[in-house]
Amino acid sequence: MAEVLLTRHNGAKDSHTLAFYKSVGGYAALDQALNMAPDAVIDEVKKSNLRGRGGAGFPTGMKWSFMPKNPVDAQGNPKPKYLVCNADEGEPGTFKDRLLLTQHPHMLIEGMVIAAHAIGASQGYIYVRGEFYHEIQILNAAIKEARAAGILGKSVRGRSWKFDIEVYRGAGAYICGEETALLSSLEGRRGEPRLKPPFPAQVGAFGMPSCVNNVETFCAVPTIIKDGAAKFAAIGTERSGGTRLFCVSGHVVKPGVYELPINMNLKDLIAHCGGVPGGRSVKAVIPGGASAPMLRADEIDVAMDFDSLAKAGTMAGSGGVIVIDDQTCIVEAAARLLKFYEHESCGQCSQCREGSHWLARMFNRIEAGQGTTEDLDKIAQICGNMAGQTICAFADAVTGPALSTIRKFRAEFEEHVRLGRCPSKPEHYVRPHDHHASARL
Ligand SMILES: Cc1cc2nc3c(=O)[nH]c(=O)nc-3n(C[C@H](O)[C@H](O)[C@H](O)COP(=O)(O)O)c2cc1C
Ligand code: SF4
Repeated sequence: MAEVLLTRHNGAKDSHTLAFYKSVGGYAALDQALNMAPDAVIDEVKKSNLRGRGGAGFPTGMKWSFMPKNPVDAQGNPKPKYLVCNADEGEPGTFKDRLLLTQHPHMLIEGMVIAAHAIGASQGYIYVRGEFYHEIQILNAAIKEARAAGILGKSVRGRSWKFDIEVYRGAGAYICGEETALLSSLEGRRGEPRLKPPFPAQVGAFGMPSCVNNVETFCAVPTIIKDGAAKFAAIGTERSGGTRLFCVSGHVVKPGVYELPINMNLKDLIAHCGGVPGGRSVKAVIPGGASAPMLRADEIDVAMDFDSLAKAGTMAGSGGVIVIDDQTCIVEAAARLLKFYEHESCGQCSQCREGSHWLARMFNRIEAGQGTTEDLDKIAQICGNMAGQTICAFADAVTGPALSTIRKFRAEFEEHVRLGRCPSKPEHYVRPHDHHASARL
């Protein structure tokens, strides 16, 4: 098993403090990076094959290289560049950034200062999920320590370079995890995604060139600089290096966050977490957060890196692995997921606003035994009108659970229609009231 790079000191007393972080070699990478030219730092990150851990898996070094070198406004005045950390962590089944924020805030700060040096940013923002009250307190305390130690502020490490970090608290909308919605929210506006292009590297926070990365992405940077890109790249695949924090939840004996090679085999990962409890077996797995299409039990002998999961018709996404056992009604599980998406659509695009609502109603109706065979075909049609047709990737995310469940578990859907009830529930089961229960399209 590969070395643990980010979470080696998990659970250690005071791991969140500057004193602890420095005692285990923290901030040595920053000093190394500050002695390197910015482009050399970017090259090192490129060589490491680090890909963004927020969901899309975009190569981090390449993203940094897209930042303009000396941007100026229409009057020729220099524009500031901003560095933004996405700590919104809203994807259901994902809880690794929270762990990094509570246990290793200085690793994040170090990664961000190195990134800021590489792209020439003068200000950083950490956009944190509003519910992370405790994490925000820890983060603010760590930033205060870093300022007092000259790691952040007017003169980083005694140099004539200013870089500081401000924490911004979100207000609980899932869509604010999407980078352009996050930027709008950061600016104090409605958290709604924006059309791309322009990309944040051109027009980002407050109209200035900005780079957005996930918490775990930044946390991987110090180890890459300190131990060298080659060591990081040696773990994983040719196109995707390093370890990854997998969040394993659902029907497993030992749910939790596991740092393992990014190309860990999914079946082995489940075994590593103690397997399915109570002698039951796997029915399905969502491998990368709720938006990732489900895999059937016969499809889980697969590596978890971005490319292998894409080849298997799903995605590595945010690293949230949700295990579903053979006692679970897939129709009910899918209906729950779709209810979440219906609630979280920002409503700007009619395909997404209406489509997510219709899908939630139809899945709910089928689960309640009121669906028809026609509904099953209509679902694919609605999804076809959503994916790739909207401002942001949210609509595509909605189609993930909808299409994968209906294609891979069609017999279970048909059984609901045929029986006029959920086969896994007692015949006279009365559903708890919800506003879709008797709704028909
Ligand atoms: C609907 C939606 C929700 C997202 N939520 C998150 C999130 O909670 N955290 C995150 O880091 N990225 C999230 N992303 C991905 C971001 O848009 C962006 O790709 C990411 O922050 C870039 O960082 P990375 O390159 O380090 O992965 C989301 C994307 C979409 C479409
Ligand atoms: S796809 Fe959905 S969430 Fe994204 S901008 Fe359009 S309506 Fe909003």
